[in-house]
Amino acid sequence: MSNGNLPEQIVFRIRRFSPGRDKEPVWKEYRVAYEAGMTVLDGLWRIKESIDPTLAWRASCRMGVCGSCGMLINGSAMLGCNTQISELASSVVSVAPLPNFPIVRDLVPDLQLLFDDHAALSPYIIRADSAEQENPTGEYYQTSKEMETYLQFTYCIKCACCMAACPTCATDALYSGPMALTQAHRYNTDTRDDGFEVRKQVLAGEAGPWRCHFAGECSRVCPKGVDPAKAIQFMKRQLVADALGLRKKRPLAPLLKKPEGIQRRPGIAEAPEPTVG
Ligand code: FES
Repeated sequence: MSNGNLPEQIVFRIRRFSPGRDKEPVWKEYRVAYEAGMTVLDGLWRIKESIDPTLAWRASCRMGVCGSCGMLINGSAMLGCNTQISELASSVVSVAPLPNFPIVRDLVPDLQLLFDDHAALSPYIIRADSAEQENPTGEYYQTSKEMETYLQFTYCIKCACCMAACPTCATDALYSGPMALTQAHRYNTDTRDDGFEVRKQVLAGEAGPWRCHFAGECSRVCPKGVDPAKAIQFMKRQLVADALGLRKKRPLAPLLKKPEGIQRRPGIAEAPEPTVG
């Protein structure tokens, strides 16, 4: 749909379902007045505020950052807040919950499986010097070039669009899926991290990257430009090299001690106390 051909009204076809009350999902239609710049999430708000207050979805930031509003829009996993109606190829907008997850209600998927798979892969820096991490005396030094090897994978906002688009996730409950695997690769690649052996316990098993058929849909739909398919292929290579005893152990990022006598510039306030423990 080009910007010049936008109708005055947009038809939203929304898949409604309340487990425990409804026997099966039904599609309902809602007509919403179109305004320039309107996103799919804006349209859902219009429906909730002036047509049907029972419609349920999940959203928070409205700016493509929190990852809450992943949904199936015209058959593709997207963020509702990040999708301009003018950029869709139709004046009928169909919206359904992300597939491959149980439905809490209407457009709200239950993402517990995603977070469980993520947690199982220890998505944080693992090093033996835990005392330093508890009470830091300096910083782990990493070059910009080293950071660039994993930087794009840090942009993941855990929206689950990749999991919803993945044909393996659709048929294989054991598979960790592109989100969790990409985050495992992100930490395995980080020169400050020494946790490959810990994550390998999951990665080399039946939940790991070998279940990936390399459809590439995860990378196509990612709203943040992350390339999970690439991370998974790198991970396969790393696991093969490890199994053959060919994996190169890279040096761990060294600890740089804070130089003595460093003072803040006048006028720069001290950092506030943490608000959470
Ligand atoms: S509401 Fe936060 S990403 Fe859409």
